[in-house]
Amino acid sequence: TKGDLPTIDPLRIVAKEMKFLTGNIRKLLGSGHPSLDRAAKYYTQSEGKHIRPLIVLLMSRATSLCPKAPHRQQATLQASAAIDTSISPLSILADYNPSAGAESEPVLADADGILPSQRRLAEITELIHTASLLHDDVIDHSVSRRGAPSANLEFGNKMAVLAGDFLLGRASVALARLRHAEVIELLATVIANLVEGEFMQLKNTARDETNPQWSEDTLTYYLQKTYLKTASLISKSCRAAALLGGADAQTVDAAYNYGKNLGLAFQLVDDMLDYTRSEKELGKPAGADLELGLATAPLLFAWKTIPELGALVGRKFSQEGDVERARNLVMQSDGIEQTRALAQDYADKAIASLSLFPESEAKDGLVEMAVKTLQRKK
Ligand code: FPP
Ligand code: MG
Ligand code: MG
Repeated sequence: TKGDLPTIDPLRIVAKEMKFLTGNIRKLLGSGHPSLDRAAKYYTQSEGKHIRPLIVLLMSRATSLCPKAPHRQQATLQASAAIDTSISPLSILADYNPSAGAESEPVLADADGILPSQRRLAEITELIHTASLLHDDVIDHSVSRRGAPSANLEFGNKMAVLAGDFLLGRASVALARLRHAEVIELLATVIANLVEGEFMQLKNTARDETNPQWSEDTLTYYLQKTYLKTASLISKSCRAAALLGGADAQTVDAAYNYGKNLGLAFQLVDDMLDYTRSEKELGKPAGADLELGLATAPLLFAWKTIPELGALVGRKFSQEGDVERARNLVMQSDGIEQTRALAQDYADKAIASLSLFPESEAKDGLVEMAVKTLQRKK
């Protein structure tokens, strides 16, 4: 029976690697300036979900069993996780020694098939994600994150923005040290994509109109924005993990497709939870999107059958009573259900992308991540 099946815990499968994640990230963030040090490490104190590094590590382990591309073996051997994490007094150029420790790091995989460069990639994805949260909380005027005051509230906007920039800088150094041009290009593109996604979000629709009409483009625009803001990081880091492992082209594409579909499912669920869960449950304000003037999937689906929502979208729910009215209309519609169904489609596609991978615990872990994405409550 189903009850007898052992439950798969993705975290347990890469527990050994995940154990060092936060410590290593904090090492990458050391600064001689005490307040910068504190602001940069602030979001590493609260327990995040570490979803991106977890996916990268599972993907690294799962693809270690897949066919290799012979021409990629050389690049794999060059990719080193070596990095000088010593804390310079004020990180001035004179203290920067690019070759420090470069030879001392092993490039061989551990018993789980995970390479040091892939572990470093996992840390880099969390750094980029955390940098985007520091900036996002400034843009969104957030007051809380992960159940604690947000960094902008704790340190002010200026320091929060600069701390985010510092994280991107340190992520870039770690990335360059991987000595893998294609992986550097992928992750640098992610940083640009995050900004593009955020810009698309500043406008709810492709055109600026006071009374926009629903069209098929409405959803296309939203999904493109969602790819850039959320799925780009997950998909391109999955691709990078496979590349670092020397996997063949088919495996690299499968890894990318898994990440893309999982990322889209993940954000659709996020946008749904903003309507269905409370602040207490989320650890951050609920119903925040409408307050920010954002029309996400549940509302866009509702808008298709309730044309009057167009005027509210056009003025970004800015008039007295708009937010409550929009919220009520969404809750009466099937917008939440349609959002869940679309998220399920993407999660199914993510799982299907793994069909060519040989059976393994890590593959089961990736499948479980897709299943859990639909079940999550926060
Ligand atoms: C969280 O979304 C934010 C993102 C997924 C990306 C934000 C990107 C930027 C601010 C672009 C610039 C940043 C960098 C580092 C390049 P959300 O506001 O929907 O989620 P939340 O409810 O967790 O705040
Ligand atoms: Mg936000
Ligand atoms: Mg935001």
